[in-house]
Amino acid sequence: MFISLEGIDGSGKSTQARLLAEALRATGRDVVLTREPGGAPGAEDIRRLLVEGAPERWSAETEILLFTAARRDHLERTIRPALAAGKIVVTDRFADSTRVYQGATRGDLRGLVDGIHDLAIGVEPDLTLILDMDPEAALSRGLARKSGEDRFEEFGLPFQNALRDGFRALAAQYPGRCHLVDAGRGQETVAADLLTTVTKALA
Ligand code: TYD
Repeated sequence: MFISLEGIDGSGKSTQARLLAEALRATGRDVVLTREPGGAPGAEDIRRLLVEGAPERWSAETEILLFTAARRDHLERTIRPALAAGKIVVTDRFADSTRVYQGATRGDLRGLVDGIHDLAIGVEPDLTLILDMDPEAALSRGLARKSGEDRFEEFGLPFQNALRDGFRALAAQYPGRCHLVDAGRGQETVAADLLTTVTKALA
């Protein structure tokens, strides 16, 4: 099973992806925890081009190509081999991030995102958990980390609001695959909720 976690910056995705992987491993399952952009050595090299530097460093169109190049490497080197070996893959972000960050925030580029995705990637997760929360609260968490990977956080609050709307629209567009989860609650509550959803999907 291929599971993705999605959400705006600071929504707690990375922590929740780790907790989910740990909880699944505790039930005896073989889990590969991975992330985008990155998740394979070449893709991690591309990641640095994307998350560091000034916000205007790349146009949205160039970003689509770079994120897709990183995703293709991630798919070839990490995701496909793990799924072929019968493992569960939990990825912190996948193609829905490109649909929203590049496809819906700086003009309507969704057609370009979908076209390139169909040609170069062509797969979707079995289950996508979308962590939904107030962008203002999430942004204060995100920037507080000062990771040096703040390029997208620096687009500011209106950008994060557009992202939230974009993720909610995706959840409505793909109700079978996507589950919207209230991430404004305590970490343990959110983790329990995600595990219940995944356990149901696995059964
Ligand atoms: P991520 O490592 O998930 O950052 P965070 O843990 O802070 O949420 O992702 C880095 C940034 O890249 C994040 O701001 C979202 C952005 N991004 C895109 O714009 N498009 C994409 O396709 C992906 C995968 C990420």
